[in-house]
Amino acid sequence: MCSNCGNEFSKWAGQCSACHEWNSLREVKSLGREIKGSRRRKSTGEPKVKNLGEVKTTKEVVSSVFSTEIKEFDRVLGKGIVRGQVVLFAGEPGIGKSTLLTQLIGKIGGLYVAGEETAEQISLRVERLGLDKGKFDILETNSIEEIEEVMNRVNKLFKIVVVDSIQMMMTESNASTPGSVGQIRESTFRLIELAKKTGVAIFIVGHVTKEGDIAGPKMLEHMVDTVLYFEGERNGELRILRVDKNRFGATDEVGVFKMEEKGLREISSEEVSLIDSKVAQIGSTVTMVMEGTRPLLVEIQALVTESYSPMPKRIFSGIDFNRGQLLVAVAQKVLGIPLYKDDVFISVSGGIRISDPASDLAVIGAIYSSYKDVALKSKPTPGPSLDKEGRKNNLVLIGEVSLLGQVRKVKMMEKRVKEIKSLGKEVPTIYSIKELKELI
Ligand code: TYD
Ligand code: MG
Repeated sequence: MCSNCGNEFSKWAGQCSACHEWNSLREVKSLGREIKGSRRRKSTGEPKVKNLGEVKTTKEVVSSVFSTEIKEFDRVLGKGIVRGQVVLFAGEPGIGKSTLLTQLIGKIGGLYVAGEETAEQISLRVERLGLDKGKFDILETNSIEEIEEVMNRVNKLFKIVVVDSIQMMMTESNASTPGSVGQIRESTFRLIELAKKTGVAIFIVGHVTKEGDIAGPKMLEHMVDTVLYFEGERNGELRILRVDKNRFGATDEVGVFKMEEKGLREISSEEVSLIDSKVAQIGSTVTMVMEGTRPLLVEIQALVTESYSPMPKRIFSGIDFNRGQLLVAVAQKVLGIPLYKDDVFISVSGGIRISDPASDLAVIGAIYSSYKDVALKSKPTPGPSLDKEGRKNNLVLIGEVSLLGQVRKVKMMEKRVKEIKSLGKEVPTIYSIKELKELI
């Protein structure tokens, strides 16, 4: 079975022919029962035809949505949590999954299934986060059967259930070891059945590791209703909650948090700024990208240095490698700078990945600034908020760059400009990257 996508094969191969992942095939014992078969509805004897007019849907569905009481979380989920919803909450170990879900239960109450930590450890975290212990029911277990037993008790209905983590869970109906692909898949399947049966929403924590040694989230993606990724730089404070799949809402929204002493704090629009420095610096530009409907001010840093290698380095983090290569080529051609002799390093502040092409101009701006060894500032015009030379250093560069170096308009420009002005910054109107020469 492929530990990345869950496809099954009759023999081993170095690469999964379904998802093309390398070294992801693991030998598994055949599952005790046919999953697909058990998923089918049981026949009740008489086939029943329902008139759609009699099927209760919208009202029930709408009224069964409730808020997480964490604004950024609601934004990502669509409106909130849906009855019986199963959410896979994925992220690298240590990124803050347990912290955020602890905070969620602290707000709305629920059952925390502790597979990794003891109740004491969780209690300490709850204290540290300043949350109400009364909101928490804790079940220390690694057994799916025990979770089923607790959730099937009719006298106690939980608002939500957090299972931390799926890698630690096991079910007796599967013979393989905990953490194995078979166990993870079967355990997830059983939790989904449980959520649908009881109507209680379940958040399943899933660790993602780069090695892909444990079951990849892709394998569970098609089973659950919603897949959330919690990401960010482990050593940085910024955390981004991204939605990868959502049966009940859009998938382009993100939530932004900051990891602090007292847990994760939601960040308001004005605070989103990831800018490290307040003054214009050599090799640094600022851009505004849209993550869903949320504007994010991001700093791009570039380092252009003379290369001592016949194959100059191109090392980019936070932007797509091919896009970066292309922008380097456009800068070389249109700005006439011989970058083929130089190593070019580019990074995005906050450890986030950006895919919005509106950042193109800022990437080229940062490269140009580093190459020229001069910080980019506005064209000299008299007015307030000027530096010693009478030039502003609070530029935000926005624009998609074409192969010819033309700067194109981007979506939601008005919204971005409004946001930038409200932050006391400026967006210069630029039609070609050649105009960057006027900014040094
Ligand atoms: P955690 O939620 O345990 O990560 P995960 O469940 O994804 O593995 O978060 C672990 C890190 O978060 C840990 O390095 C300490 C840090 N942290 C804080 O900075 N502030 C806090 O209030 C808490 C609870 C954790
Ligand atoms: Mg954890």
